[in-house]
Amino acid sequence: MAKKILVTGGTGFIGSHTTVELQLAGYEVVIIDNLSNSNREVLDGIEKITGIRPVFVEGDCTDINTLHKLFTENPGIDGIINFAASKAVGESVQKPIMYYRNNLNILLNLLELMPVYGVKGFVFSSSCTVYGEPDQNPITESAPTKKATSPYGATKQICEDIIADFIKSGAPIKAILLRYFNPIGAHPSAEIGELPNGVPQNLVPYLTQTAIGIRPMLNVFGNDYNTPDGFCIRDFINVVDLAKAHVKALERMLEDKSDEALEVFNIGTGNGLSVMQLITAFEKATGVKVPYKIVGRREGDIEQIWADPKRANEVLGWKAEETIEDTMLSAWKWQQRLRERGIM
Ligand code: UD1
Repeated sequence: MAKKILVTGGTGFIGSHTTVELQLAGYEVVIIDNLSNSNREVLDGIEKITGIRPVFVEGDCTDINTLHKLFTENPGIDGIINFAASKAVGESVQKPIMYYRNNLNILLNLLELMPVYGVKGFVFSSSCTVYGEPDQNPITESAPTKKATSPYGATKQICEDIIADFIKSGAPIKAILLRYFNPIGAHPSAEIGELPNGVPQNLVPYLTQTAIGIRPMLNVFGNDYNTPDGFCIRDFINVVDLAKAHVKALERMLEDKSDEALEVFNIGTGNGLSVMQLITAFEKATGVKVPYKIVGRREGDIEQIWADPKRANEVLGWKAEETIEDTMLSAWKWQQRLRERGIM
């Protein structure tokens, strides 16, 4: 029988791509999402790609009764992937209580109910933000975590600790923490992708919106960093590659491929690319020029960080495969599709 997975935040950017990869790998998916940062049409996109419409529960994971009802009506859930969370760094500085309340309560509710409903495996969306500014790159999972620079980052650290403590207490679950680097791009079919609310805060959606004319200019934050070209460096990871890492993580827990109850993996390409190199890659891949101007540094930005993904490559059996050009092309195709659909 197909294993059943609960994907919280499953209509969001990474959640929707992961749902697709889970379905393609033969898993049955139940999504819960409160649609606070996504919409129902995402379900159509998923169905167009895989031919299967996931079960969808519109609801909020901060409400434990909603979750009780979900687990009762959808018995036999084997694993949970927890994407449901607030994720805008800047907003978290303005609304810290909302961020702590949302991100911590969702996690606490899910963990508490796992033993009650016999759910075995838990994948947590963590972030390279837990490392702060690295002492050296590429960074491995054993590098120390540093004080978070935003409430958003703090919630990721606290959630990691809560999961570790729960497992230490002997809870009958397994968990894998995936520390994502910078997820970008869209499904190559352009049926699903990233749909930011309002003015995008992240680089790639801002870039594609500028390229298509929604924004007059991309502001590049800082060119005086201590890096080869002076721009910040990130490890940009294709969202479909990232989605596949979740399938591997679940497989590992549900098929008892490891004796460890808690494991951590960096999910990145292992290549650091500067903001300017990314803009150039976009222009090369699409033939479209991006108007930009260099402005001052953005507060709180890390200078440079990229992953050592060796553990994920060797232990998880996962590796980033897409080229940066194909990834930029997918982001561009998605932006054009939004225009065709009259959304943006
Ligand atoms: C941030 C978070 C990360 C989170 C991710 C997705 C931190 C330190 N990082 O990553 O945890 O998972 O968002 O929400 O909290 N840039 C521009 N112009 C723009 C936008 C961005 O030049 O209009 C630059 C930034 O200065 C940065 C790079 O592009 O150097 C990437 O920025 P962004 O896409 O916002 O991601 P991060 O800040 O790396």
